[in-house]
Parts: sequence; structure tokens; C-alpha cells
Amino acid sequence: MNERAAGIGQVDSSDRLAQGRVQLRSEDAWIPEGMGETCRRAAAEGIVLLTNENEALPLSGSAPIAVFGRVQRDYFTVGYGSGGDVRPPYSWNLVDALAATDLQVDAPLAERYATWCDEHPVDPEPAWGTWPRSHPEMPLTTAEVEAVAARTPTAVVVLGRAAGEAREQSLTEGGYHLTADERTLLSQVSTAFERTVVVVDTGNVVDLAWTREYDLDAVLLAWQGGMESGRAVADVLTGAVPAGGKLTATIATAYDRYPSAGHFGGHEHNEYVEDVYVGYRWFETFAAEDVLFPFGFGLTYASFDVRARDVRADDGEVVVRAEVTNTHAVHPGTEVVQVYVRAPQGVLGRPARHLAAFAKTRELAPGASQTLELRFRLEDLAAYDDGGATGHRSAYVLEAGRYEVLLGTDVRSALPCGGIDVEDLRVVRQVAEAAAVEPAHAFDRVVARTGPDGAPQVAHAPVPVATVSRRDRVLAGLPAAVAQTGDAGVHLADVAAGRADLDTFVAQLDDDELEALSRGDFTMDSALGAAGNAGALAGTVPSLRAKGVPALTTTDGPAGIRLATHTALLPCGTALASTWNVELVTELNTLLAAEMAAKGSDVLLSPGMNVQRDPLCGRNFEYFSEDPLLTGRMAAATVRGIQSGGLAACPKHFAANNQEDNREHHDSRVSERALREIYLRGFEICVAESAPRTLMTSYNKINGVWGHYHHDLVTTILRGEWGFDGAVMTDWWMREAVDPDFPAVTNDAYRVRAQVDVHMPGAWGREDRHGDGSLLASLAADDGLTRGELQRTARNVLRLALTSPRVTGGA
Ligand code: BGC
Repeated sequence: MNERAAGIGQVDSSDRLAQGRVQLRSEDAWIPEGMGETCRRAAAEGIVLLTNENEALPLSGSAPIAVFGRVQRDYFTVGYGSGGDVRPPYSWNLVDALAATDLQVDAPLAERYATWCDEHPVDPEPAWGTWPRSHPEMPLTTAEVEAVAARTPTAVVVLGRAAGEAREQSLTEGGYHLTADERTLLSQVSTAFERTVVVVDTGNVVDLAWTREYDLDAVLLAWQGGMESGRAVADVLTGAVPAGGKLTATIATAYDRYPSAGHFGGHEHNEYVEDVYVGYRWFETFAAEDVLFPFGFGLTYASFDVRARDVRADDGEVVVRAEVTNTHAVHPGTEVVQVYVRAPQGVLGRPARHLAAFAKTRELAPGASQTLELRFRLEDLAAYDDGGATGHRSAYVLEAGRYEVLLGTDVRSALPCGGIDVEDLRVVRQVAEAAAVEPAHAFDRVVARTGPDGAPQVAHAPVPVATVSRRDRVLAGLPAAVAQTGDAGVHLADVAAGRADLDTFVAQLDDDELEALSRGDFTMDSALGAAGNAGALAGTVPSLRAKGVPALTTTDGPAGIRLATHTALLPCGTALASTWNVELVTELNTLLAAEMAAKGSDVLLSPGMNVQRDPLCGRNFEYFSEDPLLTGRMAAATVRGIQSGGLAACPKHFAANNQEDNREHHDSRVSERALREIYLRGFEICVAESAPRTLMTSYNKINGVWGHYHHDLVTTILRGEWGFDGAVMTDWWMREAVDPDFPAVTNDAYRVRAQVDVHMPGAWGREDRHGDGSLLASLAADDGLTRGELQRTARNVLRLALTSPRVTGGA
């Protein structure tokens, strides 16, 4: 994968990260005022307290502590690849951050680690895709550990893991599992010390069964908190920020308990046999005993009484009023109130619980209360009938029965507080079959059948397969062309100001200009944008720029702005989602928008929002959750922040991009029901709530069709059903293919036919600065791409350009 390294190679990496204390070293290290503090708060709010025996945490003010684990210095602040590769102006590791508090960090031990880490440095520049998932641990003798314990009662052990793009987490020691050295360390420390607190620094869920094997007093799942990682952990350890993060994915007792295990990591394809039973939907329905820490779980230093005051149906919405009281005598805290719905099993079978709404309290002092109002529409929890079992094929339905409403602070402990009766089956939305499994690739999927004791049991049934003719669907949707007029002197700013309409502008464009709008400026680090960018699009040729179409610069995302210059490194997506704080995520991304404007990014390739189907997926750190509602809400919060200043966000990767191995060729075979209820649902929520201006397809195939050619996903569902009218771009570089329904439509023409508007960065060869001619060749062919389709794509791209402050006059 040197091609990716080539893109990154444009970035001057001679300037190494400043570890430890804040070091703003040059003018390009400017970040918006408040960015550091907001990152710090968000990283701290996302830390999940998993255990806390006898209130071991928070640590009291100036307590002496001994910090073990080399990750105290070599902290994993983010995962690897495009989603983490930013150059922060500073980065706080854990030991320096703890030393900056009033806590008394055992100096001889810290010194010992410093020396050892210097003598055993981690590779500063591993090759793309070969990054370390963990670092070798410093060995200590039991006598040495006991000597530290003799002077210091409390130990903090920090363990670290990372994975990334093109780098799955692995089922190995040093990957998902602890190494023998880490086990030795935990055993030595937990035996010798009065109190042992463990901090787990990771972007993926990893094995945590060991938390029950050692005598540990508290365990914090810190995630990867970006440049403020160390200070955020210190804040939670000391209680400066009370622990309050909640899990966004289930932690199982063992990897093989996950429903995707055995159906993940396939080289050519994976069958999503678990269907809609992803994460807690599986565990709460069929396998409660396999859960170590449930979805939504996280302790606080306070204790809360959560009561439903009122549950009512209000104009199509269910409204739950919950009163939350901090009953703790000493500690303040926040609580996340979660509403779940148990739908009737019906003929389709349903997961036992669906997250329907959530809300977070402000920080409540001991004795203080807050009433929260949580709203949701029952319709949004409708099941999708992809096989016609209810008599309503290709429809979202609410089957008859009682929809029980449950309130709590995690999926497992939520208790019934009311319910809604649906008398007769309701068809909520009739749509058309789209993106279903190919008949040649049918498989059996999990369905729930009611067992003799009335509880749902796992059964398997054939997945419904595709029946519609794509060719007919494409032909029925071909748009008419507008007659080409040549340059009529209409500027894009005239369209923005309402002096001309978009069609008049488009009519001026010749085929070369239309083609230029449908691809980027060919390479990463385009000369049209700030150094280190991911590529530029829209005004890629002088004649377009002369008509007022700006070249728009794209940059990764999501953990910051990936440019040659220094930029803020945000907490990873999972950390942000673990805050369950939608407003905070918007606030953080609003600051990011200010940084984009200052540093020259028009489109941030963020949020990453694939569902965390399996804990080993390398990019889970970028993603939010195993649950589509939480994913959609967090993505929408991100988009609202980024787009607050007129710039664009780019949710990705559409869709079912759930593994990294062979991601450019691998086929995600998944039922239409699971697509719509799980894998597309987050995108649907994001589009409805935040109107992203762009969206990125995925590398992988979805039921046999690459994301960048997927007419059903992009034209039928995203645009047709959801009303998305922005620009859709490919993930970086595409695979060649002939449209199976139209032999004269290949590669870029096949893509444009699907309304995947922009090929990024634009060339077919990594080093090339030209296209392959497939688009204009098809335009000229009988039964090829039509000019109407090419103009439609131009309109999609221009609608993005039209919102740019450089066109509207906002910049
Ligand atoms: C990644 C995208 C990223 C793009 C540009 C691709 O390899 O999958 O998430 O935005 O590169 O760097």
C-alpha cells in the first residue's frame, strides 16, 4: 500500500511530535482558542469507568501514585491511517499529565520508565499498514514492584492498543489479548499494591475478561483521546471531571461470543449472517450471559436515582419525562438516561431491545435533580420486511402488539416504564427493493423464533434475494439534458445570488468541463489546495474557475485536519460517542470548522460512521458505535459543527465498510433488512438531521457491487428515498468495471450513472495526472452515458460549490 504512503509522503514529517507538555512551537501551530480545552473535556467525558471497588476513584487530591506501563510515555493518542494522521502542535502523555496535577507521582519509577523507553524507542515511522498494535512492556521483578508498593499505596497501570486503516486489530497477544508481560505486570502490581487502578488506552474494544482475573480496584476504558489524552485521563482519575462515559458497544466475555465472529475477515466476502442482531441486539435477545459490560454501561463517581415521571404519546411522538437525582453524599456527576423499546416479535422477529432515545444531564451536585424529556417516534423503530412475511414486502412496518418502553442507564438494567399498543399492523413507509443480496450469493441468516418458554431463540432462514431489474430502473430514471449554450457569461456567484438558475449555468458547460466536474484534480496534495491535502474537486480546470467555480480542498478527518501544517488532534470517534453528549460533539466540530477555514480545508472527510460490527475492525476507533441511532446522532452532531461556517462535511464510508482486510475487493453480503435497519440507518439519520453537503462511498462491494458504482444505494436510497442532494464522492481511487447492464458504460461512466459524482482524487493510476477517458468515450457511444446524467452530476457538484463561502461571499 505504498500509494497511500505516497500521499502522506508529501507531508514534511521531520518535525516530530512534541510529547508531554504543551509546546506550541511555530506559527503554524495555531489552533482555535478553546480547542485544546474542548478536546480535553470531550476526551475526559468519553472515558468509561468499568469498575470502581469501594470508591477507589477518584484519587484524593495529593495522593502518592506509582505509574506502571510503558504506554504512560508512548501513549496511543489515536489510531492509524488517514483517520488519525494529523500533526498536533502538542500531545499529552499520561505520566507528564499526572505529574502536572497535585498527585505525587513516584519519581524513581517514572524515571525508570523514561530511561527504558528511551533505550527501547518505538519505531517513529513504520511503513503504511504495518503499525504496531502494542509496544513491548518493560520487565520488572516482583521485588522491584514490591519495593515501589512499600512507599506508595496506589498503582496506576496503563495498557495500550491501536489498530487502524488497513490494519485490523488481531486475535493475538499484543492485539486483542494481553501479552504475557502485561499479565505478569498486572499480577505483580495487583498483588503488591493496596490499590490498583488500570487505564486501558485503545481505539477498539479489546479483551477485558482479565479485569475479573486480577485483584483490581478500578478500571477505566480511556479510548484514544487525541492530543489531550493524558490530561483527560488525569482529570478523571482526580475527579476534576467526574467519570461519566458510557459504552457505545457491548464488551463480551470472549471474542468468539460476538455474533459476527466466524463471519468477519473473509478475504473475498463476508456473509452478515447475524443480520439485524448486531451487538447488543444479539446479546440482549439471545445471549445475555456472554456480556461482560453491556451497551450503554459506565459507572459514575456519584449515584443516581432515575425515575420515569411520565410516558405519553404526543402527536406521533413518544415522550418520556425522566427525573434524575444525584443521591451521592459527596460526588457530583453526570448521567446518561437511555430509553429502549421492546417491540413485539410479530412474524418478522425483533431484537429484544432497540435504543430509542438518550439524553445526558448537566453535572449534578449531590442532592441535585434534573428532569429530562426524551422523545422518539415509534415509526423510527419500524422493522423492514424484505421478504414479504407480513404481506408488505419492501415496506417499513410496525407489527401489531405492545411496544414496551424501558428506561435506564444501560441496555441491560433499563426497566419497563410504559408502552404503546399498536392495534393492527401499520405500514410506515412503502419503498422499493434496493441493494438486496444477489441470488447467486444467497445464505441463511439469523432470525428470532419464539421458543416454548416464550423467549426468542436463534433460528436460521434463507435471506431474501434481489428480484428487480436494475437496467429497467436506470432507464426509467434517466434525466433529460439541457441544451448546451456555450459560455453565456453566467458566473456561479450569479446563481448563488439568485440572479441566474443552476440549469442556465450548467447549459454553458461543454463536455470537457462537465467531465472535469466529475473528478478531482487527480492527485492527493493537489497544487490547488493547502499543502498535504487529500485532493481538490469542483474547479479543477481554469475554464471552470473562470466561471467562478472554486477548487474545493478536501482533507481527512475525522480526528482533525490532515495537512502538512500542525492541526488539532481530536479524541477518536469512539471516545466522542462515549460522551453521549451531542452538543459537545457539535461544539468541538464548530471549533474544527474555524480551524478548517483558517488552514484551507473546504471539505472535511468526516465523520467516519460505519457501524462497529466486529471489535477487530481496524477503523473502529474512527467510528462511533454498534448502534445506528447513536451513530446517526453523533454523525449529525459532527456535520452540524463542521458545516456551521459554510464548509462541508463528508460522512463516510457508504456503506457496510466493516473490515479493513482486502477492503478494496471484499464483498459485504448483507440482507436488505440489515442494511436498512443497521448499516444504512445511521447515514439516514445523519442526512435527515444535518444535511451533509457531501458523502463518500466505500471501497468494498455491497452485495456484489462496489460502493462507487452502487446505483441502488446512491440513486435509489440516498437520493430517491432520503432526498440527499449534495455531491457524492468515491473513496480514494476506484476499481475498474463494466456496467453489467450496459456494456458501453464503464468505469467513470458507470460511476456517474449511479450518481457517484466525483472520482477522488481523480486519476486511475496513483501517480497519473489524467483520467482514462472512459467517461467521454461512453458519452459518445450508443447506449452509453447520457449528457443528462453528466449534467445531473455537475448540478450535484455545483450545489456543493454554491454553498462555499468563496462563492457566497462569506470568505
Ligand atoms: C480512506 C478514506 C480517506 C481517504 C483520503 C481512504 O483510503 O478510506 O477514509 O478519507 O483515503 O485520505
